[in-house]
Amino acid sequence: MKVLAFNASPLMERGNTTLLLEPFLAGMKEEGCEVELIYTCKLHVKPCLGDTACWTRTPGKCVQNDDANALIPKIQEADVIVFATPLYVDGMPGTLKNIIDRLIPLIEPYFVLRDEHCRHPPRQPHKNSKLVLISNCGFWEMDNFDPLVMHVQAICKNTCWEYAGALLRPHGEALGYMVREGLPVQDVLTAAKNAGRELARTGKMSEENLKIVGRELASLETYVEMTNKGFKQALDRLSQTKASP
Ligand SMILES: Cc1cc2nc3c(=O)[nH]c(=O)nc-3n(C[C@H](O)[C@H](O)[C@H](O)COP(=O)(O)O)c2cc1C
Repeated sequence: MKVLAFNASPLMERGNTTLLLEPFLAGMKEEGCEVELIYTCKLHVKPCLGDTACWTRTPGKCVQNDDANALIPKIQEADVIVFATPLYVDGMPGTLKNIIDRLIPLIEPYFVLRDEHCRHPPRQPHKNSKLVLISNCGFWEMDNFDPLVMHVQAICKNTCWEYAGALLRPHGEALGYMVREGLPVQDVLTAAKNAGRELARTGKMSEENLKIVGRELASLETYVEMTNKGFKQALDRLSQTKASP
C-alpha cells in the first residue's frame, strides 16, 4: 500500500503536527506500507493561475512549470493520502491549499452529475484513494476543527477520494510542551500509531483511538493561564532586551 503524506507545518520536524504524524506513519510502516513524507513548505508550488489553460489550451497539463508537476503522478498512485496540517485561521495553510488547487488538470472541464450533484469527471480511471486528516490547533476546543473537517470532507467528495477520518488534537501546544517536559502523554502518541496500524490493516480507524488522540490534556482554565503566562514572559524578556543599553 502506498502512502503519500503532506506535512503543511512551516515548522516541519520542530512543529506540533509532526508529533502525531510521525507515530501514525510509523504504524503504517510497521504494517508494511510504503510511506513518502513531503513538507509542503519545501516545495515550489505556485498558486493556480485560474485561467483553466489546463482544460482548454494544454488539456491535462498546467502551463506553470514547478514542483506540482512531479506531485501529480505521486498523488494518482497513492492508496492513502495524508493531509497533516496545523489549523491556520480555521483552515489549512496556503502551501497545502495551493497543491490541492493545482490538481485541476486531473479532471475534465465538462460537468457530470454524481450523486445528483455537479462534478467534473476524472481524466483517467480513478483510484479510490483514502484521505486521512491529521490536525492540531492552538485553541482549546475540539470544535475549532469543524470548518477544516467540513472542507476536507468536501474536497474528498469533489475529487472522489474516500474520507477515512481525522486525528484531531486541540490545545496542540500542550502536547508539544508535555512531550518536551516528559509529562504523561504517551497514550496519545500510541493511539496515533495504533490508528495508523488499523488503517493499514482494515482501511478504518477506531473511534477509541481517535478519542484518545484528542483527549483533554489540561483544563481550559489551566491551558489559558499557561499560554498567557508563556507569552507574557516572552514579551517581558523582549522589553527588557530593548530597554538595556
Ligand atoms: C498563522 C496562524 C494561524 C493560526 N490560526 C489558528 C486558528 O484559527 N485556530 C487555532 O486554534 N489555532 C490557530 N493557530 C495555532 C496553530 O494551529 C498551533 O500553534 C499549532 O500547534 C501549530 O502547529 P505546528 O507547530 O505543527 O506548526 C494559528 C497559528 C498561526 C501561525
